[in-house]
Amino acid sequence: FLAPIIHSLSISELEILPCALLVVNGEGKITSLLKDVNPNEARHILDRLNFPGIKINVLGPGRFLIPGFIDTHNHAPQWAQRGLGQGMHILDWLDTITFPNEARFQDPACARRIYASCVDGFLRQGVTTASYYGSVHGEATRILADICLEKGQRALVGKCNMSRNAPDFYRDASVEQSLRVTEECIAHIRSADPGGQLVRPVLTPRFAISCDDELLRGLGRIAAREPDLPIQTHFNEAEQEMQATRGLFPQFDSEADLYEHFGLLGPRSILAHCCYVTEYEMERLRALGCGVAHCPVSNMTVGGGFMAAPVREFLRRGIKVGLGTDSGGGFSSSILDAMRQAMIASHAREVMSKGQDKGLRIAEVFCLATLGGAQVCSLEDGVGNFVVGKDFDALVVGTQGGDQGIMTMVEEHDSLETVFEKFVMTGDDRNILEVYVQGRLVKPSCDEGAVKH
Ligand code: GUN
Ligand code: FE
Repeated sequence: FLAPIIHSLSISELEILPCALLVVNGEGKITSLLKDVNPNEARHILDRLNFPGIKINVLGPGRFLIPGFIDTHNHAPQWAQRGLGQGMHILDWLDTITFPNEARFQDPACARRIYASCVDGFLRQGVTTASYYGSVHGEATRILADICLEKGQRALVGKCNMSRNAPDFYRDASVEQSLRVTEECIAHIRSADPGGQLVRPVLTPRFAISCDDELLRGLGRIAAREPDLPIQTHFNEAEQEMQATRGLFPQFDSEADLYEHFGLLGPRSILAHCCYVTEYEMERLRALGCGVAHCPVSNMTVGGGFMAAPVREFLRRGIKVGLGTDSGGGFSSSILDAMRQAMIASHAREVMSKGQDKGLRIAEVFCLATLGGAQVCSLEDGVGNFVVGKDFDALVVGTQGGDQGIMTMVEEHDSLETVFEKFVMTGDDRNILEVYVQGRLVKPSCDEGAVKH
C-alpha cells in the first residue's frame, strides 16, 4: 500500500503518516513500514527491498489506512435484539428481553442465520476482531466459531456459562454439563484453527449471579490448567447487579475479591463495564493486570447504572482499557459510535470529578478502539497497529462523497489530521471501503449481509 496511514503507538502517541509504504507478505504479515516516501520513488524503493514486481495498491484522494477496530465485548446472540428494552434495569432486561431471545439458539438453524448476519454486520463496520459471548448452547457456539473462521473475522468465542438464576428453558442443566460443554467448545475451536491464528476460545462465565460456587471453581480449574486461555465476564456493571451479587456471595467484600478467589482474575481477564469500582478494586485490577472492556453505549441505556466507567482514572493507573459495543445491550454495533459515546461519557466524568478527570480526546478513544482493545484481548503482539511483524488487520477509509453516499464533509484544504477527525466524529460504515484481516479482504457487500428469512 502506498497510502496515508494513521495508527496509535500508545495512548498518547497517534502517528499520522501522510505518505507511507506498507508491505504485506503472503501470510498477511506486515514486513515493512516506510514513512515519508516520495510516491514517484515507491517502485524503486520496493525493488531495492527485493520486492520486484510486487503489486502496489495506491489509495486515491481522501483515502487512508487505519488498523481494524477491536470490539472487546459483544454478545453475538443479541444481534437481532439490539435496541430493545432501553432504560431497563439489568436483571429485568435479562429476564424479559435477553434470556427468551438467547434461548432460541438451541436451534442450530437460528444460530446459523443470525450469526452469519452478525459476523457480516460487524465486518462491514470494520470490526476485525470481536470478543464474543455465545449463548449457553454448545452447538450454536461452535457454529459461531466456524462462521468467524469462514468469513475471516478474528475472534474470541466463548460458550456462556450460567447454571442458576435463569429460567429452566435457558440455563445449563448442571455444573458438570456446563463444564463439559465448555471443554467441548474449546476443543472444537482449537481443532478448527489449530494455531489460534484467527479464532480462539475464551472462558465466559456470564457473571457471578448466574454461576454458583462449584461452576466458578470448575472454570477456575480450567483457567489454571490453560494459562493462555482468556477469560471474560461482566464486572460491577450496575447497582442492581452488584447488590444481588453481594446477597449471593456475602463472604466477599467486592467482585474483585470474588473473581480472584475463583482464579478468574489476571492479565487475561476481560472485564466488561467496571462502572463502579472502589479504590481497593482499582488497585487490584491494576496489580493483577486485568483489562477493562469499556461499553459506554450500553452503560448509558441499559443496565440501570446509567453511568460509564472512570476511564481517565484507569488510564492514569496504567490499567488496560478497550472499547466494547456490548451489542445488543448497546443499541449500536458500531465502534465509531462507541468512540463518540466514550468521549461524551468522559465529559460527564470530567464534570463529576470537578475537572480532575479530563475528558478523552479523539486520539485517545481511537487508541482504545484499536491498540487498547488488542491489549485487553491479549492480542497486542499480533494486531492493534501497523508495527512490523504484526498481522495486517486494516480498514481503507474513504471520506469523499459520490456513489457511496458518504456524509463526511471534507474540503480541499483539510489536513490529513482534520480529515481523520471528521471521519471519527461523523463517519459510519459507508466510509469503510475495504476491510482486511490477516491480509485477506473480508468486507461483505451489503447484499451478503442481509438477514435472510
Ligand atoms: N450481565 C449479565 N449478562 C449481561 C448481558 O447480556 N448484557 C449486559 N450488558 N450485562 C449483562
Ligand atoms: Fe454485556
